[in-house]
Amino acid sequence: MTAQPPSSPLPRVKAPEDLRSARWYGPADFRSFGHRSRTMQMGYSEEDWRGKPVIGILNTWSDINPCHQHFRQRVEDVKRGVLQAGGFPIELPAIALPENFMKPTTMLYRNLLAMEAEEQIRSLPVDGAVLMGGCDKTGPALLLGAISAGVPSIFFPAGPMLRGNWNGKVLGSGSDSFKYWEELRAGTITDVDWLGVEQGIARSHGTCMTMGTASTMTAIIEALGMSLPGASSIPAPDSNHPRMAAGCGRRIVDMVWEDLTPARVLTREACSNAVAVAMAMGCSTNALIHLLAIARRAGHAGFGLDDFERASREVPVIGNVRPSGTTYLMEDFFYAGGIRALMERIRGHLDTEALTVTGRTVGENIAGARVFNDDVIRPLENPIYKEGALAVLRGNLAPEGCVIKPSAMDPRFLKHAGPALVFDDYVTLKTAVDDEGLDVTADSVLVLRNAGPQGGPGMPEWGMLPMPKKLLKQGHRDMLRLSDARMSGTSYGACVLHVSPESYVGGPLALVRTGDVVEIDVPARSINLRVPEDELARRRAAWTPPPPRFGRGYGWMFSQHIRQAHEGCDFDFLKTEFGPAVGEPLIH
Ligand code: FES
Repeated sequence: MTAQPPSSPLPRVKAPEDLRSARWYGPADFRSFGHRSRTMQMGYSEEDWRGKPVIGILNTWSDINPCHQHFRQRVEDVKRGVLQAGGFPIELPAIALPENFMKPTTMLYRNLLAMEAEEQIRSLPVDGAVLMGGCDKTGPALLLGAISAGVPSIFFPAGPMLRGNWNGKVLGSGSDSFKYWEELRAGTITDVDWLGVEQGIARSHGTCMTMGTASTMTAIIEALGMSLPGASSIPAPDSNHPRMAAGCGRRIVDMVWEDLTPARVLTREACSNAVAVAMAMGCSTNALIHLLAIARRAGHAGFGLDDFERASREVPVIGNVRPSGTTYLMEDFFYAGGIRALMERIRGHLDTEALTVTGRTVGENIAGARVFNDDVIRPLENPIYKEGALAVLRGNLAPEGCVIKPSAMDPRFLKHAGPALVFDDYVTLKTAVDDEGLDVTADSVLVLRNAGPQGGPGMPEWGMLPMPKKLLKQGHRDMLRLSDARMSGTSYGACVLHVSPESYVGGPLALVRTGDVVEIDVPARSINLRVPEDELARRRAAWTPPPPRFGRGYGWMFSQHIRQAHEGCDFDFLKTEFGPAVGEPLIH
């Protein structure tokens, strides 16, 4: 199922005296005396570090992140691999970003982890890094930090949890929570049923096992060339997983000697490969934001929404994994051959010459991969969705773009026009949708604003706006919904997301009024408000900005520097320029 990495053909270009860590441990001076004596204080001897690459293992374990529960033990497997290959492992705890627990949203803190990762690597004697992540924001955050730190790095994915189970039914993370919550609100299941779902949906450690943001991003990072081949598909409890952990530990030591940095792997072609894989997997809409940030941080300033739009028209969805797929989950995907098999199947859409952390090309890494279940990983001629997973829309409502997931919605809303029902905040919306007297029909367009990068703040995953109870009881399960928020990758429905620029900074979404007609045409990739331009100009002149969200602290800094969704929501001051290392710490 997973390939042992083939031996690297890259030459060793570094000598022990070239290591970053030699600056800490090598000199016969007062400061280095301190570094050596304090390492000895921890029980190590000179034999442990002399002439060896120091490998920083960034571990996002915590007691409040169930997706990374196994990292506490798994890090020992990574260390085992580092030691086998002649490195010196040091574990560096990093913020865990638990998706289900952090408020208002982990997205507020993605860039904080990115900065923490970068600064830990930069400020410590780290020659190479293993990035232990998986839960939604941790993968992109660690990678962003590693890109800017510039040392050789390899991503270690947490792996998906096992399938959920309730009364003999398979349950999928997120997707079935949303589904059965709506059934409970519609009165078609009981409180006892709901408790059964609660007890059965998360059966093991590991990340969400639908094609949510975690599985999307770990697949993308592998497609970028930053993980061992096949790593991202392995379920967390499978014994392949600790073996892969040790493999990461062994490989990163050699990567240091080869000076195989992220800059050498994350080419424009690698980013295009990641987009193609994302589309074929039926990816989470969050893929756009994170991959835009990663590509731009890697120096590809021109990488944008149009790269996704192009790929979405060319690459069919062949990964039959919920919520874009109908039946299967990540465990099934692994048994069917996993990411290598999927990449082999879309080989024609990939640049197979792209270099990866194995020191070999994408083409070499996927060679010989086979599909063992054609219903889970479909042939190109029998996709589950002919066009890609996502569509980028533009128009007078979203001049800089927005996104919808046609593969996971009722197709009747692909072309639709209906009256807007507008809410300025999520709390008011949540209360209103439970009012069975709400003036809403199945043709209405639910609109939420002030939920973007600054307005949310942090662009929370509110974009799958809850269906009005009145419509649920009438048997409706989808309607057109519109916001500047994101939505969970496990969500589904006719939800237009990431409207940019956001309403909080005066984007056109701020001008919509209840009753205005919103018109969407997904095949034509358009979204418009049927309101005359002179009327919109009047509303724009009368608009006043909402009060600031933060007066101090990290939130204040976030508000000052966060970019919009179509730019990847990175901080403006974190732009990376590859080249000679800048900002290296003065250690004396
Ligand atoms: Fe961690 Fe879904 S909550 S991956």
